[in-house]
Amino acid sequence: MDTTIRDYYSRGGELDRLSAGRGRLELLRTRDVLRRRLPPPPGRVLDVGGGAGVHARWLAADGYRVRLVDPMPLHVEHAGAIDGVQAVLGDARELGEPSAAYQATLLLGPLYHLTGRDDRIAALREAARVTAPGGIVAAATISRYAGLYDTLVRGRYLEPEVRRITHAEIVTGVHEPFDQDLFTLAYFHHPDEIVAEFAEAGLTGATRYALEGAAWLFADRDSWLDGDERTAGLMEALRAVEQEPTLFGISSHLLTVAGVE
Ligand SMILES: C[S@@+](CC[C@H](N)C(=O)[O-])C[C@H]1O[C@@H](n2cnc3c(N)ncnc32)[C@H](O)[C@@H]1O
Repeated sequence: MDTTIRDYYSRGGELDRLSAGRGRLELLRTRDVLRRRLPPPPGRVLDVGGGAGVHARWLAADGYRVRLVDPMPLHVEHAGAIDGVQAVLGDARELGEPSAAYQATLLLGPLYHLTGRDDRIAALREAARVTAPGGIVAAATISRYAGLYDTLVRGRYLEPEVRRITHAEIVTGVHEPFDQDLFTLAYFHHPDEIVAEFAEAGLTGATRYALEGAAWLFADRDSWLDGDERTAGLMEALRAVEQEPTLFGISSHLLTVAGVE
């Protein structure tokens, strides 16, 4: 892993990133989609780039046998302490896992950091290889336009260097590292690119889901996430438009899911 990315994650930001605000929305929606697409528990789930185990935790609680792979020792240490989760060091491009061993393989993060297309295809091919027929591969991507909206909403867009980086990434997809507040070296997908990448890795018939839709940009976003009836209403509304292609690019994240034959 690039040292810039390693330095970013070594600060421990992943340990609680999904517990509040936009991260909480990402968690709720990722779980909402995956619970509808995963084969029923108990089955084996490989959580590649699983970070500190935020998804591994609820997957294990749902009854899955979860193995997490991540290149960051800090993440592996935290995830390995979760009940029912095995965590090991590894890289999405070359998994030290047997073929057809999992009912689901998740890539909820590695594709963000593989800026080269060949590397992303290699990671998807590996995911397909380790997944048993009848299982699924699910991969999260960051929208090509997320940085633009993010810097606008957070008032950073008017900084000349931030504006330059933001405009470059809209064209190339490559998000240059700038400061800790604006993520790290990453690749931001155009919504149509990921389907072609899945197909090239042998994963056909992929379905895309907009995770946050436009809701991550709501000024009163956090008030929708208290776990009450408004949260249920927001989940229902986002579900209603999650597969609408004209709305994919506004979502911060897209989840793409394909069955393995
Ligand atoms: C934004 S975090 C997401 C963590 C977690 N999956 C989640 O959704 O909260 C991205 C994760 O991808 C991991 N990662 C980066 N490059 C990777 C690679 N080549 N193979 C596997 N994981 C990688 C990072 O260490 C980090 O834990």
